[in-house]
Amino acid sequence: MSHSILAASLLAAACAVTLVGCKPATETAPHAATPAQAAVQTVAAPASAPSSPLSPAAQLGAKLFFDPSLSGTGKMSCATCHDPNHAYAPANDLSVQLGGADGKVPGTRAVPTLMYKEYTNAYSDTFENPDMVSPPGPGGGLTWDGRANTIAEQAAIPLLASNEMANASKAAVVEAVQHGAHADAFRQTYGATVFDDTERAFTLVGAALQAFQVEDRSFHPYSSKFDRYRNNKLGGALTDAEIRGLRVFLDPNKGNCMACHLIGGGNDGSQDMTSDYSFAAIGVPRNMEIPANADPKYFDLGLCGPLRTDHRPGKDKGAAATCGMFKTPVLRNVATRHVFMHNGVFKSLEEVVRFYNTRDTAPEKWYPRDAKGRVNKFNDLPAPYRANLDDQMPLDLRKPGSATPMTDPEMQDLIVFLKTLTDGFVPPAGTAESGPQAHTVAEAAAVNAAANAAHKPKTP
Ligand code: HEC
Ligand code: HEC
Repeated sequence: MSHSILAASLLAAACAVTLVGCKPATETAPHAATPAQAAVQTVAAPASAPSSPLSPAAQLGAKLFFDPSLSGTGKMSCATCHDPNHAYAPANDLSVQLGGADGKVPGTRAVPTLMYKEYTNAYSDTFENPDMVSPPGPGGGLTWDGRANTIAEQAAIPLLASNEMANASKAAVVEAVQHGAHADAFRQTYGATVFDDTERAFTLVGAALQAFQVEDRSFHPYSSKFDRYRNNKLGGALTDAEIRGLRVFLDPNKGNCMACHLIGGGNDGSQDMTSDYSFAAIGVPRNMEIPANADPKYFDLGLCGPLRTDHRPGKDKGAAATCGMFKTPVLRNVATRHVFMHNGVFKSLEEVVRFYNTRDTAPEKWYPRDAKGRVNKFNDLPAPYRANLDDQMPLDLRKPGSATPMTDPEMQDLIVFLKTLTDGFVPPAGTAESGPQAHTVAEAAAVNAAANAAHKPKTP
């Protein structure tokens, strides 16, 4: 059996088992497109043509994204933390970045990639899972706790946060734009009198930043080896080890990664997004490199606070049941990251995979011991909330000392597979290009508009 046929049957089997609407790729048959992709392909430019021009709002957003005058110090732009050369994540390997008025105030969370966020819908406690099998539950939204409903709304957080871009007020941001290099472009895009209404102008800064992130191909190039393989483009055949790793990723009795990091077609038209936007508590260790964690009473509990405020325990009966839950991150380009998880506690992909494999079988490897010498498992999640921990494979809470879900070679293969999710794959020399790219500017913008249209702001 060739690799591709093996994988095609492997993916077909996985799709049948989980009812995920994914379409296996084969080397000979053309890729069976999802409806969304079929629509894309009629409007897609040939791969050799320059990518479609950005809208005026997106061009303005590109300027603002790289403009340090949008920070209180005049030294920090969005790109300082979201570096386009590092999948829009930080170039350094700090668990949390420094910002604020003196550029030295530490953050409390790791910086996520900004790539492949265009399908993200508003947060809901009863989010319909795109895998079409999981029951509705907390899902959607931007940031690790989903508290921003749109990419546009999200921009307000770093612009005003005292440990990030540290502007004193919305008016200060608008003033910086009005007196900065892009004032004319801002007026041309949004009207001559746009600066008269501060609240509206501030909202439009977010809108421009969103347009850039949604439209620019660099945020969703779909150019990984895995995409090539899935889109049946020549030169994208996976190696034996990569196929074995994919199998571990999909296997419900081994990695089971795909239970949350969705591979296949989502009911939202997405393809292999590697996240179903669901929230889960997986009990990662406390990271003592985060200064806030020096306070033993401080816990970052994700959905239930402290940054997010609408699920604080005591608010209602369901609130405490969300403590410890964070959004399942997109794994595209994950091999380029320096730090992993919401608190950046892990420093390599290998460490992450070993954690998934041995959190329960050898917890002493991951958690410190208390004064009595007992392993303080789940030391970043207070005991009353540990019932919230997800118990799906491979984190099924099995007994210490029992067999691990994956063998060492399976873990190695899984890591090799995860590396095929890195964009910018260069196929072997002489490989012919075959057909249009999967995802155009127009489609990305349409997808995001639909996601935002579905969003009805919640009254606090
Ligand atoms: C000091 C570093 C820093 C700067 C500067 C910064 N961000 Fe971020 N960004 C973060 C962190 C940390 C998070 C995660 C926040 C959380 O979970 O609460 C984040 C999250 C995001 C997200 C959500 C991604 C997701 O996966 O849900 C978006 C979108 C984003 N930032 C856009 C921007 C934009 C636009 C700017 C400029 C206006 C910007 N950021 C400036 C650190 C930064
Ligand atoms: C029950 C759902 C679930 C399953 C199953 C699961 N994950 Fe995750 N994954 C998550 C959540 C939630 C996070 C974020 C947790 C946090 O930050 O506290 C995460 C984080 C990660 C990260 C860190 C990414 C980043 O940007 O920091 C990697 C890598 C990862 N998972 C890989 C895997 C692999 C590989 C598997 C299979 C062995 C897997 N996951 C299985 C839900 C899941």
